[in-house]
Amino acid sequence: MSALERPGATLITIFGAGGDLTQRKLIPSLYNLYLDKLLPEHFMVAGLDRSGMNEDEFRQHLREGVDTYSRRGKAEDAPWRDFASHVSIFKADLLSPKTYTDIAERLASKENEWNAEPSCIFYLAVPPNMIEIIARGLTKARLNIERARVRIVVEKPFGHNLDSARKLNQMLTESFHENQIYRIDHYLGKDTVQNILAFRYGNTIFEPIWNRSYIDHVQITVAEKLGVEHRGGYYEGAGALRDMIQNHLLQILCLIAMEAPVSFNDNEVRNKKVDVLHAIRPIPHDQVHRYAARGQYGAGWIEGEQVCGYRQEPGVAQDSCTETFAAVKLFVDNWRWQDVPFYLRTGKRLPSRISEVAIQFRPVPHQTFPLAAAPELRPNRLLLLIQPEEGILLRFEVKHPGSTMTLSPVMMQFSYREAFKTPSPDAYETLLLDVMKADATLFMRADQAEAGWSALAPILEVWDSTRATDFPNYQAGSWGPEEAEILISQDGHGWMMPTYMQCEKDAAVCRVTTEPKT
Ligand code: BG6
Repeated sequence: MSALERPGATLITIFGAGGDLTQRKLIPSLYNLYLDKLLPEHFMVAGLDRSGMNEDEFRQHLREGVDTYSRRGKAEDAPWRDFASHVSIFKADLLSPKTYTDIAERLASKENEWNAEPSCIFYLAVPPNMIEIIARGLTKARLNIERARVRIVVEKPFGHNLDSARKLNQMLTESFHENQIYRIDHYLGKDTVQNILAFRYGNTIFEPIWNRSYIDHVQITVAEKLGVEHRGGYYEGAGALRDMIQNHLLQILCLIAMEAPVSFNDNEVRNKKVDVLHAIRPIPHDQVHRYAARGQYGAGWIEGEQVCGYRQEPGVAQDSCTETFAAVKLFVDNWRWQDVPFYLRTGKRLPSRISEVAIQFRPVPHQTFPLAAAPELRPNRLLLLIQPEEGILLRFEVKHPGSTMTLSPVMMQFSYREAFKTPSPDAYETLLLDVMKADATLFMRADQAEAGWSALAPILEVWDSTRATDFPNYQAGSWGPEEAEILISQDGHGWMMPTYMQCEKDAAVCRVTTEPKT
């Protein structure tokens, strides 16, 4: 989000450095920032772990991560060697005060070596039960007090419900100032998610129609083809509502529904997002079934491959009631959005990996053309494609070529790939750079995390206390359970087929490229 300049000297301490996140995301992203010359001249990554890997083993483990997961593919020897010389591993017992005094000593030694006052980032890539232990350890070693240069990064899940999120916020803010706490939601680091704001507030023509007078309803879909994989242990305690809707989908909803911020100051943007969450209409407990549908995948076929059901995945109970699909209808009660439904859905083992936002406009108020000219006049639709296709599509009606007046829908398309020809950075690249620059715009503030939990609390409470008796209720490779269809069809709508499967057969595609520079 911040301008392209290098941050000052930085020491990043990763707690849980031997884990998946470090190998898959953090190090490949830091390495890409290094290749793009966006890391500080003076930087060090200190990994803390219990495993006892030595430095060479650790660096080799990280290189395998880069080779496998980096958007750039395999690392080349010379730049990797130089980057790796900035990365070290330390065996650490997170319960021991010495771990934290060692960090303080490391910091002091880097200050001397670099002759600078480095920023000090504590990245907590650890299970939730370790957060408090680490925060208290850092506080005892007085590593929390230099507000301007110390930052702590906390991964999701941020709590399990409203109550636990409040306690976590309270505990963290006893030691750290809110400005020092970076709660990560990696969706906010995606270019296409940030582009929602660029699209809305970098243009004049959409804002006047961005309201209940023109918009009929909004659909936000985040569909995953993968199942729960090796994360059964974590996922059993979470489920789709906590894992995806409470954070990623609500963040997207906020960007779609928020009012214009006066500036891109971090708190200004976050204030506007929190306003949206506070305006979400409370769902009465006895009405939850009318606002939310849950599902769990059974065995099925995906792209010709047979896959097992959720209950057969490793680490999952045979009678598990955890939902792997959730669909929710929300209303934002304010002047702009009153009575416009926002339908959110997400699920694992759906037919494809597609995330997109569909803004469905209202039909024309009066049918001017004879029925024969426009037998199926379709209302305008704007599609914000988040992944894997990245871009925007706008559907509108045009006159079909020929001597009679007949209307046909066409799609006007903007594709990031075609227009810019440069790949987007991984979300973690953007977010890590922002932490180094102390720009918190793309991170959740305490009140936002709590407001997200609060909006979904009735659904969580009813689902947690009532066993789903029909699980598994959708086949792997299908678009989810029947209940999700009922949820939306009771309002006279239907879930849209995600775009790339639909649009080519739905409408002629009119390609639009970037304007030539004049
Ligand atoms: C994570 C969830 O936050 O997001 C995962 O815990 C999910 O369950 C992942 O698979 C999806 O992220 P992305 O960027 O691949 O859409």
